[in-house]
Amino acid sequence: MTDIDNRSIGVLDSGLGGLTAVRELMQLLPNENIIYFGDTGRVPYGSRSKDTILSYTRQDIRFLRSFDIKAIVVACGTISTVALDLLSGEYDIPIIGVLRASAYRAAKLTENGRVGLIGTQATVASGEYERMITEINPDAVVFSAACPLFVPMVENGRTSRGDIVIETVAAEYLAPLKSAGVDTLILGCTHYPLLSDVISAYMGGGVRLINSGAEAASYAASVLTMTEKLSSADGTGSAQYFVSDSVTGFTELASRYLSRDVEGAVTFVEIETF
Ligand code: DGL
Repeated sequence: MTDIDNRSIGVLDSGLGGLTAVRELMQLLPNENIIYFGDTGRVPYGSRSKDTILSYTRQDIRFLRSFDIKAIVVACGTISTVALDLLSGEYDIPIIGVLRASAYRAAKLTENGRVGLIGTQATVASGEYERMITEINPDAVVFSAACPLFVPMVENGRTSRGDIVIETVAAEYLAPLKSAGVDTLILGCTHYPLLSDVISAYMGGGVRLINSGAEAASYAASVLTMTEKLSSADGTGSAQYFVSDSVTGFTELASRYLSRDVEGAVTFVEIETF
């Protein structure tokens, strides 16, 4: 007989980006209950110091652990590359980030060995993706670019093709990677998959985009399956969302991105008190 574990899965990001993991988790594991925290009051994390990222993340995890949770998906590239190694030893439940799964996917998928990475300043400066990709595929060469303006644009809903502002910013950031001839591009910040249409249109259909939030979710699904920690409910998993800034703005953007109405499921939390 297989074990079951009906506790919730915690998902964490500095803002909306972690919804890329939530969307995938809902598809892969529809029985699971999800508790999401988006630190919308303190986003972005990607331009902050390591100490600040660590202290914010510890608070975020303390908040998530005020619920009965069995694992945390750190659906944030910045935390995953800057702080996760240090943090994961501090907790007695699995803490799953985006780095390993996305690096592995890129290293295996690339055909010409030229891999692009876009992320926050902190993620690019960490060098963690280069390190991990070349460990898996020593022939791979990684070309990276920080795209700091993408996060505020996503948080403000500027994600559609035809929006001249986002298209101009995207062209500016992505031009060097396009010239480098990458055939695989890691969207190493979980906000960026919300810009997939814009990024893909600029890079061209031949470039494979790796959605780091979805990769983390799929890795988390494997971990929970292998460790027999799946929930027993039958397709009736629920999701609750907590944010540290406007509930209205998050509700609107999350409903659009998840293609489901999250009205009434989003609550403000005073994160500094945790
Ligand atoms: N989603 C976060 C990440 O993946 C957003 C970045 C930020 O807060 O700067 O890095």
